[in-house]
Amino acid sequence: MSENGVLGETLLDSPRASRTGISHSCRRIRGVNVRKTGAANLLDSESLALAEDYVYLPDTVRQAREDAVLTIREVPSNGVCAALLFLAKALDAKAVVEVGTGAGVTGLALFAGMNPAGILTSIDSEADWQLEAKQLAADAGIAARRFRTIAGVALDVLPKLSDAAYDLVFINGDKLEYVEYVAQASRLLRTGGILVLNDVLWHNLVANPRNDDDETMIMREALQSVLDLGDFTPLLIPLGSGLLAAIKDE
Ligand SMILES: C[S@@+](CC[C@H](N)C(=O)[O-])C[C@H]1O[C@@H](n2cnc3c(N)ncnc32)[C@H](O)[C@@H]1O
Repeated sequence: MSENGVLGETLLDSPRASRTGISHSCRRIRGVNVRKTGAANLLDSESLALAEDYVYLPDTVRQAREDAVLTIREVPSNGVCAALLFLAKALDAKAVVEVGTGAGVTGLALFAGMNPAGILTSIDSEADWQLEAKQLAADAGIAARRFRTIAGVALDVLPKLSDAAYDLVFINGDKLEYVEYVAQASRLLRTGGILVLNDVLWHNLVANPRNDDDETMIMREALQSVLDLGDFTPLLIPLGSGLLAAIKDE
């Protein structure tokens, strides 16, 4: 165990760290190698709830989310939507890929931050959901040409999108495919673009090594793959069910 109570090997063993010589403080997350930081400085559930409420989010997005919660499982939280808006705005994003159109809530949040001419390419296996999402965007005044929906299975569609052509890739699809989504995002993003993975702490199951259901295991593998690829600078944000943002390096 290292001095700050972390079990397992350090990121210094990863290809990225040995290339850059940077001494990272994050650690491998596979198996039991999960951070066991002393509890004193960590946020409690009240503080985390406040962070979820203290968000900049247009009323249209808040309302769309409230409506969607009634019909769709696992709608991303207000905090996650605000983070998407924030990142899209910081990047002045002109080209964004989303896996999991769903009810269109996260799409609206992305549009609220993107460049006014930016195009969102949104993939979902359920074409009906996409019709609703398109209507939602139209009602919010988003020009139809800016919302490119593709009905299909993400792992069939993503390989057809162009290399290094996107500012932001947001993953909110099938949890069991997250590792493959990460690999695709690494190819799709331009240098300086950002990968955002939703639900990476998956119902509080990922951090506890005793949980070994499929989704949890795959989520750990996806988090590990972001480190192992060696071309991302990641940040795990405790909003919603856990949000990983990772900048694509050269
Ligand atoms: C949690 S919902 C997305 C919520 C959405 N971002 C929103 O704001 O409402 C997950 C979506 O992923 C879609 N999905 C699941 N597996 C998929 C796959 N393999 N390829 C494409 N879409 C998939 C589902 O149809 C569903 O609409």
